[in-house]
Order: sequence, then structure tokens, then C-alpha cells
Amino acid sequence: MNEIVLASRNPNKIHELRELLSIPDLRVLSTTDFSELEEVEEDAVTLEGNALKKAKYVAMVTGLPSLADDTGLEVVALNGAPGVYSARYAGEQASYDDNVEKLLSEMTQMNVRNAQFRTVVAFVDADKQWLFEGVCTGQISRYRKGAEGFGYDPIFVPDGFEQSFAEMDAKQKNSISHRGLAMKKAVIFLQDWL
Ligand code: IMP
Repeated sequence: MNEIVLASRNPNKIHELRELLSIPDLRVLSTTDFSELEEVEEDAVTLEGNALKKAKYVAMVTGLPSLADDTGLEVVALNGAPGVYSARYAGEQASYDDNVEKLLSEMTQMNVRNAQFRTVVAFVDADKQWLFEGVCTGQISRYRKGAEGFGYDPIFVPDGFEQSFAEMDAKQKNSISHRGLAMKKAVIFLQDWL
């Protein structure tokens, strides 16, 4: 049985990634299975930099291949913000709800509401590193809709849909989401790599 370690402690994310990574003969561990792993500061200025930083650290400490992702919500009218700072848009200790509130209030007067979620997945083994990207374009709604998912899901309506991500179940969201698309590329790669 091959093993890889997801470089994440976020239960929402581990759950989502485990569903996407259901490959036969692959056991998917996570940061929470290794008490020796410390928190990695996500201080790179790009999604690629943060994803690689997390995967490299976990691979180095555990001696196992590691997969990490970093995601940003890039709003066109805000020149790509909050982007790599999406998790702490409303401040270092901001909750999902604080970030959503800040984005809605920044955009009250804005009619151009196009945005995209962009995920970069990094996979690092003993010798090499690989990057996979997934993008999902859509619109920032004026109000929160739905109770599923996490983060900015209640205010992101993907192109071609009327519902927000928070009004979709995990399966539907994964089939069109930034992370789903990046992970599909990673899964195709991993099937060969195993
Ligand atoms: P992370 O890099 O995946 O931790 O994402 C950074 C931030 O982006 C999170 O704290 C969330 O606020 C937001 N985010 C990431 N992925 C999603 C998603 O699928 N839906 C909504 N928000 C997300």
C-alpha cells in the first residue's frame, strides 16, 4: 500500500481531498497523524509558494510523499484580492464569516462582480516536485446563500449556475470546483506515479 500525507489540519479540506483522492492502493494520511509536525506559516506571496512550502516541510519531516494545496479567491474589480491572503482578509484571526463580511462590504458599490477561485496543488516526493492548477470562474453575490461548504462558498456563484457553492452538496461542488479540477490533474498524475 502506497502512502501519502496531506499537508493540512483543516478537517473540511481533509474530508474534501480524501473524497477526491480515492485511488485504489493509496492510503491518504494527513498532518494530524504525525504529532511531530509543526504549523507551517503560509507567508509566501504566491499560492504556488505556499503549497510547495507546506508539501516540502511535511515530506521532509515524515519521509513520505506529501500533497498540499493553497487556494485564493481572486476578485477582478479588486485587482485579484484577496488572492493569496484569502484566509486572513479581515485580519490574522479572521473567521470565514468575518472575511465574507469584509468582501461584501468592500464590494457594495461594485457592479462588476467577476471572480475566480484558483487552487494550486503541490506534490513532493523524495526527488521531485510537481504543481497542478485548477480555476473556477464565477460571480460574487450580494448576499449569502446556502449553508454547505466553508469559506467564501455562500457568496460565490460559479459560472453556469444560479446556486452558490454553499447551496451545492460536496459531490456537485467537487465536480466543478477549483480544488476539484486541480485534484483531477493530480489524481491522473498519481495513478501513473504509484
Ligand atoms: P486554503 O489555502 O485552502 O486554506 O484557502 C485559503 C482561504 O480561501 C480559506 O480560508 C477560505 O476562506 C478560502 N477558500 C479556499 N477554498 C475555498 C472553497 O472551496 N470555498 C470557499 N472558500 C475557500
